[in-house]
Amino acid sequence: MLLENKVCVITGGTSGIGLGTVERFVELGAKVVIGDIQDERGREIADRLGVNAHYVHADVTQESEIEALVAEAVSCFGRLDVMFNNAGDGGDRAGMTEIGAEGFDRSMSLLARSVLLGHKFAARQFIAQGGGGSIISTASAAGIEGGWSSAAYTTAKHAVVGIVHQAVAELAAHGIRSNAISPGVIATPIMTRTFGVPMEENERFLDFLSDRIGHTQPLQRLGRPRDVAGAAVFFASDLSEYVTGVNLPVDGGATAVTQGSFAIDVVAAAAEFPA
Ligand SMILES: NC(=O)c1ccc[n+]([C@@H]2O[C@H](COP(=O)([O-])OP(=O)(O)OC[C@H]3O[C@@H](n4cnc5c(N)ncnc54)[C@H](O)[C@@H]3O)[C@@H](O)[C@H]2O)c1
Repeated sequence: MLLENKVCVITGGTSGIGLGTVERFVELGAKVVIGDIQDERGREIADRLGVNAHYVHADVTQESEIEALVAEAVSCFGRLDVMFNNAGDGGDRAGMTEIGAEGFDRSMSLLARSVLLGHKFAARQFIAQGGGGSIISTASAAGIEGGWSSAAYTTAKHAVVGIVHQAVAELAAHGIRSNAISPGVIATPIMTRTFGVPMEENERFLDFLSDRIGHTQPLQRLGRPRDVAGAAVFFASDLSEYVTGVNLPVDGGATAVTQGSFAIDVVAAAAEFPA
């Protein structure tokens, strides 16, 4: 029971990566407060998981709702040990020559500002109670390289990594750790929504994507929420008590190698060099 009695807040915990992490954390002994905007699903999930799971409506684009979410975790379970800033969507999909200020700001407020404010309120609580704490944030392969997503999403996910680095500078002396997880392509409803496929077709669409592109990932399959949850367990648990400021890719190896044809092109060009 790696997470026995650890009180954890998980945003975006009613779907995909967040839900997979909520389930894994509860299995491992944690007490979990889920913050999300899908209230009916959230309440069903909390009921199914029992006394160690609690749902709170929290729109992470609203500062007051993040503050209230942390306060609710403390009033429900007495303290806070782990804050997982995970909620998100696909962001504004416009390209650089099309993006408008409003779409960019909306993407940043959901994908980056929420992570900063999650740090703010979790760190205040950790400092007040003493003994440090762990903050985990979902970045992305798009926070490591360009080309995985749109300009707004890529900018926001790079910002998440910046927040994690700054958190080390400002919070490590309080024993507060902050780490990011960067998923590659994980089969979750974010894909279904991003590509405008009706949610009734979610499973069929994700199976289709896995068949079509799973083999393009170095480990030969798409990721699953449980793969990301495993990394979150590490950062939430005392196994990582000397680890902070890390951005851990959970991407089947994708960001370690070039996905393009540069290497092949160089070999082909070199072979054509006139002797
Ligand atoms: N699936 C992937 O391939 C992938 C890759 C890299 C990063 N990510 C990141 O992982 C995180 C989780 O995404 P997912 O793939 O599980 O998608 P998902 O759509 O399955 O889950 C996202 C969750 O966030 C919630 N949410 C959305 N807006 C919110 C708001 N304003 N306030 C509170 N909750 C809100 C949704 O209701 C949902 O439960 C996101 O930050 C996403 O950017 C996903």
